[in-house]
Amino acid sequence: MVTDTKTYYTSPAGKEFTLTAGRFAGIHPASTVLDIGCGYGEGVCNMTQEFRCKAVAIDINEENVDFAQNLAVERRVSHLIHFEQNDILQMDFSEEPFDLIMAEGGILSYLGRKDAFKRMRSWLVPRGWIEFSDLILLSDKVPNEVLSIFDYDTYLYESESSYRRLIEDAGFTIQFICLVPPSGWDNYYAHMARRLEDNQGFFANQEVKLAFHKEIDIFYRFEGFRFVGYLVCIVRKKD
Ligand SMILES: C[S@@+](CC[C@H](N)C(=O)[O-])C[C@H]1O[C@@H](n2cnc3c(N)ncnc32)[C@H](O)[C@@H]1O
Repeated sequence: MVTDTKTYYTSPAGKEFTLTAGRFAGIHPASTVLDIGCGYGEGVCNMTQEFRCKAVAIDINEENVDFAQNLAVERRVSHLIHFEQNDILQMDFSEEPFDLIMAEGGILSYLGRKDAFKRMRSWLVPRGWIEFSDLILLSDKVPNEVLSIFDYDTYLYESESSYRRLIEDAGFTIQFICLVPPSGWDNYYAHMARRLEDNQGFFANQEVKLAFHKEIDIFYRFEGFRFVGYLVCIVRKKD
């Protein structure tokens, strides 16, 4: 069921998980947070609005950064966030480490999970935190239609157990782990369905519209939800 009709998240986890990460990490006004792949800025706006911390938010897509900056002004948190359009793979924050890194919405799979953990480890203060959400496979017998719509050949998704191993091997301990409930997926696809009405920007493109319609169809009608899940994890850097 759709529980949030106003959200601008472009991933299934949503506001409760962003705020949970802030609470786990004990974020406060003197804390610094990095949001990698901030998208439309919903996550970083929620984080700064709730905890009044300072944040840096990066996205490779200029249209997304423009949108996010406007959202921050609307939410009265623009003075707390530095937005930058950049490729996170070209950036280095090891000289100014953060208390918490947000990596919501599959960005770790886009960047390469193992390498991304290594980078993020060097961008965190001692005992710093990462919150991430990412697609995983729930079964080893996933129909080809489902694998194909989520572009498995490119991202080679983890299972929950392989993700747990990856996190431990990368030098982090898991403090919180769960799968996004059905309402998270419903909120996400409801947002996507609204955006498919756009006449300009990314979602105005006919191929994008077609791809999302197909994804929604496969997730619900073909019961893709039985084979893929969205993992939310809050992890802490080991000494
Ligand atoms: C699925 S969206 C998630 C957006 C947001 N975190 C959310 O959960 O609503 C992934 C975002 O990562 C951005 N992205 C992908 N590769 C990137 C890179 N190399 N550097 C920075 N941003 C990147 C995309 O432009 C997109 O906005």
